[in-house]
Amino acid sequence: MPADFEALLSKLERRKPERLKKDSETYKIMASVFDSSTLLTLYHMINRGVFDIFYGVVSTGKEANIFCALDKRGNYVAAKIYRISTSNFRNMYRYLAGDPRFRRIQRERRQIIYSWASREFKNLQRAYEAGVAVPRPIDCEKNVLAMEFIGEEGAPYPRMKDVSPRAPRRMFEKLFEAIKVIYRRAELIHADFSEYNVLLTPEPVLIDFSMATDIANPMCDELLMRDLGNLVRYFRKLGLKTPEPVELFSEVKGK
Ligand SMILES: Nc1ncnc2c1ncn2[C@@H]1O[C@H](COP(=O)(O)OP(=O)(O)O)[C@@H](O)[C@H]1O
Ligand SMILES: [Mg+2]
Repeated sequence: MPADFEALLSKLERRKPERLKKDSETYKIMASVFDSSTLLTLYHMINRGVFDIFYGVVSTGKEANIFCALDKRGNYVAAKIYRISTSNFRNMYRYLAGDPRFRRIQRERRQIIYSWASREFKNLQRAYEAGVAVPRPIDCEKNVLAMEFIGEEGAPYPRMKDVSPRAPRRMFEKLFEAIKVIYRRAELIHADFSEYNVLLTPEPVLIDFSMATDIANPMCDELLMRDLGNLVRYFRKLGLKTPEPVELFSEVKGK
């Protein structure tokens, strides 16, 4: 076992508060899922106070695991940790190459995944600064991203996939407005917009900006149309009358 790994675990053990009984379970998961370099990154972030204790796994996705943690001050934070060994870095490379901000990235697996996490962080910063309801970005080091936790007492708010909005018309309009502001003010396209990536507080919060790309991406129009198509599909299924995606597209573009 690498020395860094041991140091990390002993540090985590020391911080383990009595009231969080599940902690050691969480750390065991982390130690088995992540390579030692990721654990070292977590250790750096713990030293910066970004994370203090890890609370539990919130989600195990295709590329990343999301944990609920507490920061040094006791606030909930979400840790999105991209797995180095099981991420589809070839796909990531393809998507990054279309984004003018990341044209020059290296082809090495680790570097691609770091760029992927860093792009998601930058996307969140841009969307957040544009005033869109997204998790506040906190920090990013290598493959680990820290952001505001959108939930209560360590449980994330439900996805729009799991609960139907009470006022569909209003929700549709809010989400369309969000897509428009992301495009116009943040100059981004979410590119993975769907009911899976909207949390309801019950106000909508857009998450998962890992696919979001600059509007200068040559695929921009296609990606925007797909996002709007998903928006329309979801609300039509609820029985809402909506404009056609292509009409929404023109409105976003201001043409
Ligand atoms: N900032 C956050 N606060 C609370 N829960 C979150 C946050 N980000 C993600 N989650 C939870 O993790 C799940 C997966 O996150 P997401 O960013 O969509 O990752 P993936 O790339 O795996 O789809 C979400 O559906 C949500 O339940
Ligand atoms: Mg997602």
